[in-house]
Amino acid sequence: MKGHPLQGRDFLKLLDFSTEEILGLVDLAAELKQKKKEGIVHDVYRGRNIALIFEKTSTRTRCSFEVAAHDLGMGTTYLNPTDSQIGKKESIRDTARVLSGMFDAIEYRGYGQEIVEELAKYADVPVYNGLTNEFHPTQMLADLLTIKEHFGRVSGLKFVYLGDARYNTGNSLMVACAKTGMHFTACAPKAYWPESELVEECKKLALEHGGSISFTEDVREGTRDADVISTDVWVSMGEPDEVWEERIRDLSPYRVDRSVMENAGSDAIFLHCLPSFHDLGTGIGRKIHEKFGLTEMEVTDEVFESEQSLVFQEAENRMHTIKAVLYATL
Ligand code: CP
Ligand code: NVA
Repeated sequence: MKGHPLQGRDFLKLLDFSTEEILGLVDLAAELKQKKKEGIVHDVYRGRNIALIFEKTSTRTRCSFEVAAHDLGMGTTYLNPTDSQIGKKESIRDTARVLSGMFDAIEYRGYGQEIVEELAKYADVPVYNGLTNEFHPTQMLADLLTIKEHFGRVSGLKFVYLGDARYNTGNSLMVACAKTGMHFTACAPKAYWPESELVEECKKLALEHGGSISFTEDVREGTRDADVISTDVWVSMGEPDEVWEERIRDLSPYRVDRSVMENAGSDAIFLHCLPSFHDLGTGIGRKIHEKFGLTEMEVTDEVFESEQSLVFQEAENRMHTIKAVLYATL
């Protein structure tokens, strides 16, 4: 779309965007979703191409970028964690310049945030963060859209995140809430709270936008009257298997179960970026069951499958929101 205010911008973290820009992308995603539901073809970017670099595995993010790009008429090239030269035989800086010559945009999922920032620095085309250790900004747009679809608004709601709040999802949710005037509470052992520099920045933003940021180790106090309850896996991609034992010990009291949802209230919704360990339907879930005896981890199957759980609407919204990012920035 010519002339969109975000044309040419990278999408690396929500901190780079104003509240209006973030909520504008959410509204744009809602429009694009409506168009798709009505069967309106919207292939305005025919002839353009995007490179999708995944140094970590993915279902939702990859499929969202591919479907969104195809719906917009674009071509996609998927570079998997093992088959390209990136990082091993070719620097990020050189990769950025090579891909800029062939593609109109680049998506990157991988490890440190500094890698995607470097890619963006040397690329001449928009670069999108498909998840780093620190941030998962496209996920945030999907969460905001899901919240807005359900409550009709975002600002003023109480959002509670339970579990490892120091990693990509916890960090990003705190930023998303701070930017949009939600009241964010991380409910976790102190060692799992986000780093203080980011917390201070978010507290300032929250104040500006009428929200708040708080932390507690007390599940009942933290989740009382929450509008949104959210969690994520206890061990993230790229972390060593050895950390499972301490995570299970430290985070089991923060599992989202029926009592958490009851404490929040019957109008609360449950969100999870997925994938989730809520039963024994996964290889890792079964391994953990054999070793530690757990049948469910960060969320019980009962909550996951309940009426209050909007996780599949949230997953679908990944595609519509990623489409909004492509549409706005190209
Ligand atoms: N939520 C999310 O990013 O899912 P994938 O890892 O499947 O992309
Ligand atoms: N924290 C998780 C998010 C997955 C979408 C991870 O990094 O593995």
